[in-house]
Amino acid sequence: MVLTFIFAEAKLIKKIMAKVSVIGAGNVGASCVEAMLHLNFCSEIVLLDIKEGISEGKAMDMMQAAKQYGTNTKIIGVTNDYSKTADSDVVIVTSGVPRKPGMTREELIGVNSKIVASVTESVLKYSPKAIIIVIANPMDPMTYLALKKNNLPKHQVVGMGGQLDSSRFTYYLSQALNVPVSDIECMVIGGHGDKTMIPLIRFAAYKGIPVTKLLSKEECDKVVADTMVGGATLTKLLGTSAWYAPGMSAATMAKSIIMDEKKMIPCCCYLEGEYGENDLSIGVPAIVGKGGWERVIELELNDEEKALFKASADATRATANVLKEQNLI
Ligand code: LAC
Repeated sequence: MVLTFIFAEAKLIKKIMAKVSVIGAGNVGASCVEAMLHLNFCSEIVLLDIKEGISEGKAMDMMQAAKQYGTNTKIIGVTNDYSKTADSDVVIVTSGVPRKPGMTREELIGVNSKIVASVTESVLKYSPKAIIIVIANPMDPMTYLALKKNNLPKHQVVGMGGQLDSSRFTYYLSQALNVPVSDIECMVIGGHGDKTMIPLIRFAAYKGIPVTKLLSKEECDKVVADTMVGGATLTKLLGTSAWYAPGMSAATMAKSIIMDEKKMIPCCCYLEGEYGENDLSIGVPAIVGKGGWERVIELELNDEEKALFKASADATRATANVLKEQNLI
């Protein structure tokens, strides 16, 4: 009787919980898996890398701590065997080369586009319905590539950039205001580039109070500038690009999809008229749930913000056009 109950319960948990695959077991991929263990919403995570042993080792290392993470999530490390990713609900693509100090994300397009094109093709062979979260840089064009190259419905591919940049914006605002990050709400839209992202200071609030009422214009400008180079600052310090915040940002998005939380998350979506743009993948606030990015939220931008968005869209489109020159799409 008791056992029947336990098994019924286990079945239920299995049904609710889900499978996520992470492609690339470098710093970002591994941190993302660890973040998902903390968030504890998957029954299975597959970590795949092309380098023999690396994903198996990292998976085993984390599994050896599973009891302490307080999770029963199973992590499986595999070398290049995409069949093990079969039937994933979400696939997170971290593969590619990270930037080095002094480099822009856009400069990575040549090498990373070929990697993202081949990785997404392999992933979709075994999980044709999986929602794909793109982290590889330049993230907006890579999201566009994953969508176009594989002829996917637009809601199935979403880029992680806005969530990360908004998280960094939260950090810099909390520092400037000397308040906890949990009391800040803010978002960054536009491209995920040092010059293309748009931290929306006018919409940022500390417990509902606009931060523009609490900080001077100079202080606000500094927070915005620091946010825009948040990733570059870390690249300079670390000699490579960051991993904890990117990993956690993708994990948060995966959770919103798997648990159908329908959180409003700034992320890279394919626009068809929203914000006045067409045929472009770029960061906007969207509802993220089991359907991927489900609906774009259109903010009432003022003229200055509209102009910034237009400039960001133009620059992002110009980078994405390189993919056409390379005959990748
Ligand atoms: C960053 C990379 C992941 O901003 O784009 O840290």
